[in-house]
Amino acid sequence: MTRHYAGEEIVDHIIISERAIDERVAEIGGSITREHEGHALRLITVLRGGLFFLCDLCRQIDLPLTLDFMAISSFAGGSGGAVRITKDLDDPIEGQRVIVVEDIIDTGLTLNYILSVLRQRRPASLEVCTLLDKDVRRIVDLPIAYRGFSVPDRFLVGYGLDLDARLRNLPYIATVHEDAALPAGPLVVPDA
Ligand code: IMP
Ligand code: MG
Repeated sequence: MTRHYAGEEIVDHIIISERAIDERVAEIGGSITREHEGHALRLITVLRGGLFFLCDLCRQIDLPLTLDFMAISSFAGGSGGAVRITKDLDDPIEGQRVIVVEDIIDTGLTLNYILSVLRQRRPASLEVCTLLDKDVRRIVDLPIAYRGFSVPDRFLVGYGLDLDARLRNLPYIATVHEDAALPAGPLVVPDA
C-alpha cells in the first residue's frame, strides 16, 4: 500500500528513494564504526533538519555514543553566513571525538561558522557527516569526512528538508514543482 503524505502534491521527482537512503545510511554507519573503532563518539546535530538523518545514522553505528544538539538562526541576506546560536550544546566537547551530522550542505557558510565555534572548544577530533552535498553551490571549502549523496542545485524537500517548515516527514528526498508554494500557516478547515 502506498502511503500518502499531506502536501505531497507539490513533489515533482523523487531523486533519492527511501530504500536508497536506508542503504546509504547503513554504509556510512559502517564506515564510522570501522574508522572510530575502540573510541566513543559525540554526534552533534543542528536542529532541525538533521534530526532524521541522525536518528537513522546513530542506529547504524556500533560504538558507544552520545548525542547533543544546537540550534541557530541565520540572518537572511546577511553577509558571510552570519548566524546566531539560539540553543547551544548541553555538554562540553573538550577531548571528545565529535561528528557534526548535517542534512545538507549548500554554500557551507552555516557549517563553517559552527565548526569554527566548536573547534575553539578543543574536541579530540571534529568531523563532518552530511547526507546531501549540493557541492556546486559551495562558497567556503569544508572538509567532509562522510557524504551520502551529491545532489544537483535544486530545491529539495523530505527526510528532514523543509519547505516553509513543512514536508520534513516525507521518507524520501524530492524536488518540488517550479511554482510550488504551500499555503501560509496552518490550513483552516471551516466548521462543518
Ligand atoms: P548553507 O549555509 O548554505 O550550507 O545552508 C545549509 C542549510 O540550508 C541546510 O542546513 C538547510 O537547512 C538549508 N537548505 C539548503 N538547501 C536546501 C534545500 O534544497 N531544501 C531545504 N533546505 C535547504
Ligand atoms: Mg532548513
